[in-house]
Amino acid sequence: MASRSVTRMIEYIKSNRRIRFVLASAVILLLLGIVIAIFLGTWIRLFIDHELVLRPGSMTFEWWARPPVRPFVKVYVYNVTNADEFLNNGSKPILDELGPYVYSEEWEKINITDNENGTLSFHYKRTYTFQPEMSNGMDDDAVVVPNIPMLSATSQSKHAARFLRLAMASIMDILKIKPFVEVSVGQLLWGYEDPLLKLAKDVVPKEQKLPYEEFGLFYGKNGTSPDVVTMFTGATDMTRYGIVDRYNMRDRLPHWTTDQCNSVAGSDGSIFPPHITANDTLRVYDKDLCRLLPLRYLETVESSAGVEGYRFTPPEDVFANDEHNKCFCPAGPPCAPDGLFNVSLCQYDSPIMLSFPHFYLADPSLREAVEGISPPVAEKHRLYIDVQPEMGIAMRARARIQINLAVSQVLDIKQVANFPDIVFPILWFEEGIDELPEQVSSLLRLATRVPGVARAALAGGLCALGAALVLLAVTCLIRSSHRQSTLRLEAHVVAKPPPPKTPSKESAYELNSRR
Ligand SMILES: *[C@@H]1O[C@H](CO)[C@@H](O)[C@H](O)[C@H]1NC(C)=O
Ligand SMILES: *[C@@H]1O[C@H](CO)[C@@H](O)[C@H](O)[C@H]1NC(C)=O
Ligand SMILES: *[C@@H]1O[C@H](CO)[C@@H](O)[C@H](O)[C@H]1NC(C)=O
Ligand SMILES: *[C@@H]1O[C@H](CO)[C@@H](O)[C@H](O)[C@H]1NC(C)=O
Ligand SMILES: *[C@@H]1O[C@H](CO)[C@@H](O)[C@H](O)[C@H]1NC(C)=O
Ligand SMILES: *[C@@H]1O[C@H](CO)[C@@H](O)[C@H](O)[C@H]1NC(C)=O
Ligand SMILES: *[C@@H]1O[C@H](CO)[C@@H](O)[C@H](O)[C@H]1NC(C)=O
Repeated sequence: MASRSVTRMIEYIKSNRRIRFVLASAVILLLLGIVIAIFLGTWIRLFIDHELVLRPGSMTFEWWARPPVRPFVKVYVYNVTNADEFLNNGSKPILDELGPYVYSEEWEKINITDNENGTLSFHYKRTYTFQPEMSNGMDDDAVVVPNIPMLSATSQSKHAARFLRLAMASIMDILKIKPFVEVSVGQLLWGYEDPLLKLAKDVVPKEQKLPYEEFGLFYGKNGTSPDVVTMFTGATDMTRYGIVDRYNMRDRLPHWTTDQCNSVAGSDGSIFPPHITANDTLRVYDKDLCRLLPLRYLETVESSAGVEGYRFTPPEDVFANDEHNKCFCPAGPPCAPDGLFNVSLCQYDSPIMLSFPHFYLADPSLREAVEGISPPVAEKHRLYIDVQPEMGIAMRARARIQINLAVSQVLDIKQVANFPDIVFPILWFEEGIDELPEQVSSLLRLATRVPGVARAALAGGLCALGAALVLLAVTCLIRSSHRQSTLRLEAHVVAKPPPPKTPSKESAYELNSRR
């Protein structure tokens, strides 16, 4: 019975071109919907990758070369308010956190050379402008801070011959060098003439010479950097997009003990290899940090322009004094305590230690060795970057670092004989971008929302249309098969009893009369 009606339906389909057409269209639409549901994601990925590649002349390239962002750096200086008592009476240093002193930045990449092998070489150019109306104080505010060149020299002399230390003491006497200096915030950052560095410039043999006679914590950062950076463009390998290939022609740092720790293969923090998942570890390379900084997923956030992003932050043990940081301690043990990173090898052997602001994630005893630093708060003192995961573009960032000086007591040098072993905080800063310009944000919004919506709409729409057509065709078929069986019934009404499941004649007549 059933096979007979199927045969009839097939006959009907064969004889009716309209039904054939409808059925064929339905099948094509359904297939198209399925193909889109499966492959649209891949196509969009390929399209994004293609658009992101840093090809001279492309829009991405222009944005990369002259980022249309307004970065700023906010500096907080620890003013020492009891320098004399600290030196004479052995009291804890009392620090007064001043600031922020805000500088706006303009970023640019200059002398860009296309190496024709999927890399570009260039120099960073950064211009800083003081923003008095955003700052709490002026950059000519006088502050009292440890004399970093002097304390570096005395701390380094700890293991030298005693007569050298005595000679150093008398030179410092003659030059009237004191363990604390009073300088302006601008001088502390951008440089002031230091008598010791000046002297060193004249007496130290040329090869070991410091490259400058001024001292400033951001000295030489305003303007074009002399370093040549070679970076992957993504043209050959999207998984290395925006990653540093070489820094000053070297692909490794010379300072640490393993290849992994010497690697410079990180992003500069502005662009990352696209299609980031919450399981990925991002790596940022910064020359002053002297290593790659790993970043892990923390949470999903939304930028104020309404673009969803992943917040990445360093793991809590990033500066821990443990097994996986042993490679950063070539002279140890003992190594730097928890939460401090010894960058002295990158800073001409000055005992500079980096940490997060307020000793966030560091041994609490470091903060308790001084007075005037409030307990760290993750929201205010954590370093993070919010990236748009599909395109790997940083939307918001807070690079927060504190600079400390690890002073060693040297009894032979009378000026510093009372300066105990201490990790002395100097300042902390936060470099950041708040928001991408609207043109970039709207593109990111488009890139995040459109694929999902387009896929749902296209695939869903096509499948629904296909299904509707199938339904239509099936309805027609059923009706026509009813009609046919009704016709046959009418023709052989005497010869054959009607099939049990045939609907009433009424409906068949209805159908006929409607046609
Ligand atoms: C920094 O501290 C010194 C005292 O040690 C004080 O004279 C000076 O005014 C302070 N600077 C600011 C900007 O408050
Ligand atoms: C050191 O402490 C003594 C008493 O404890 C006090 O008289 C003196 O003024 C202090 N010196 C300084 C520089 O504050
Ligand atoms: C950039 O290129 C120009 C001309 O090619 C050259 O004069 C200049 O020294 C270069 N600058 C740097 C920082 O290499
Ligand atoms: C690409 O070419 C530059 C310049 O010739 C070279 O320094 C760099 O190592 C090359 N990079 C790769 C990945 O081949
Ligand atoms: C940085 O350099 C620019 C131009 O050379 C200058 O106008 C500006 O004042 C400098 N900024 C600082 C903070 O010194
Ligand atoms: C992330 O890692 C966890 C555990 O290692 C795993 O269960 C999960 O499937 C991973 N997610 C992705 C997207 O790879
Ligand atoms: C920092 O590193 C230098 C060079 O490896 C080393 O001489 C110095 O002792 C280290 N400082 C500390 C406090 O570990």
